[in-house]
Amino acid sequence: MSVAIYPGSFDPITKGHQSIALRAAGMFECLFIAIGENTDKRCMFSLEQRILFIEKTFAEVKNIQVVSYKGLTIDFCMEHHINYIVRGLRSGIDWHTESSMANANKLLAPSIETIFLLTDSQCVGVSSSVVRDILKNGGDVSAFVPATLLPILKQEQYEL
Ligand code: PNS
Repeated sequence: MSVAIYPGSFDPITKGHQSIALRAAGMFECLFIAIGENTDKRCMFSLEQRILFIEKTFAEVKNIQVVSYKGLTIDFCMEHHINYIVRGLRSGIDWHTESSMANANKLLAPSIETIFLLTDSQCVGVSSSVVRDILKNGGDVSAFVPATLLPILKQEQYEL
């Protein structure tokens, strides 16, 4: 069975992430969307909120599972027999950080391949940090996040 992981902070999931995940789900029999718990990073949304956002977004997609993990992505991959890591690329700036992470992962676990998908051209300016900034300033994020998040965002409490 071909299994891939799409790891990230997803704080929160954006339309860019949604597009990458849907395309990856079409390429693999099973796709784990995996929230890496980074103890150094203070998130706007709790882990539970981020999981809920992703579960709601992909409720109809049968081969996507949402999980969270602590520690190295490649350790999670080895434990669950996952051979592919999917990451999205928006620009050359992403390439710089993404290629160094992919190279480190390759040195740590040579059997695991990182596959890059280019972000949908309409989502090149979309990022979780932009979404957080708009939310902090009371703006409208409907062009940036999956529609499933909008009613939840109206009710949810998050760190401003
Ligand atoms: O959405 P992000 O913040 O770009 O996601 C980053 C993430 C979670 C994929 C990355 O920080 C990660 O893989 N963290 C786990 C630790 C690890 O495996 N680092 C790569 C080896 S250098």
